[in-house]
Amino acid sequence: MSEPELIVRFTDEDAARELRADARAGLTERPKWLSPKWFYDATGSELFERITTLPEYYQTRAEQQVLQRHAMDVAETTGAATLVELGSGSSEKTRLLLDALHKHGTLRRFVPLDVSGSALRAAVDAIALDYPELLVRGVVDDFTSGMAALDAGPDRLVAFLGGTIGNLLPAERAGFFASVRAALRPGEWLLLGTDLVKDPDRLVRAYDDALGVTAEFNRNVLRVLNRELGADFVPEAFQHVALWNAEQEWIEMRLRAERPMRVRLAGLALTAELAEGEEVRTEVSAKFRRARVDDELAAAGFELQQWWLDDAGDFAVSLAVAR
Ligand code: AVJ
Repeated sequence: MSEPELIVRFTDEDAARELRADARAGLTERPKWLSPKWFYDATGSELFERITTLPEYYQTRAEQQVLQRHAMDVAETTGAATLVELGSGSSEKTRLLLDALHKHGTLRRFVPLDVSGSALRAAVDAIALDYPELLVRGVVDDFTSGMAALDAGPDRLVAFLGGTIGNLLPAERAGFFASVRAALRPGEWLLLGTDLVKDPDRLVRAYDDALGVTAEFNRNVLRVLNRELGADFVPEAFQHVALWNAEQEWIEMRLRAERPMRVRLAGLALTAELAEGEEVRTEVSAKFRRARVDDELAAAGFELQQWWLDDAGDFAVSLAVAR
């Protein structure tokens, strides 16, 4: 077995600087906002893992089903030697792809990229143990900026799963697809997971579950700010809001102040005032239709080659080639 490598391009100091800039911008603008990026400390990551097991949150199971059925198709179509995984997170889906590419006989390198150094270290070590012949190189970076810096491994397949693309606003999404495309050579591949537009009631329930796990996940961002920026948010004084924005076709999560508040962020020397009922937008989770995925990929220089759905038609996995 060759030792797994870990390259750090985004340090804890980089994250701290970005959190400060985000919090200052988001809490002084109107309407107020915070980036969903900051949900995922250890507690937030655990809460998200719990969300993926909730009956209302179909996405993870749906994507898993598609990959179980089509991982071998992905391997045969792409013949990839390098699997690059953006925002690697849960390794179960990764293993479906690694197993298929390994069985197909083309796989040589695995390059997972994630902002969390500790999560990536653990993932990289586990994969290296189970795939002794694989060259494993973890890259700690932000997926929205990290692509350009990735080495040109041979015959790459870039996987961006979980529907995380939905967290980007349309302009950010265009920039992201363009940066992935710019990092690839013609004939290399992108595998993309997208949640789909469906009955708004079901969508809202997926983001406002009966057990209140998503509500806790949402409030957790305030705990992150309390700890990292010396803020004094009272998370319990915020109501969890999940709503369907029909015009934009996205779910929005917000935190609604139940009373007027003055929040001190000591680490930023900033005081934020919230009126009773004022909302802070904490996440956008866009839902897609085939035409939109097709158009946005084409605009970035990709050609959609496969569009696979789960049985219920809830979630799509797209395979696109760089032109
Ligand atoms: C991990 C970004 C795909 O948008 O559905 C889950 C995060 N937010 N419940 C999503 C999330 C609320 C999730 N992604």
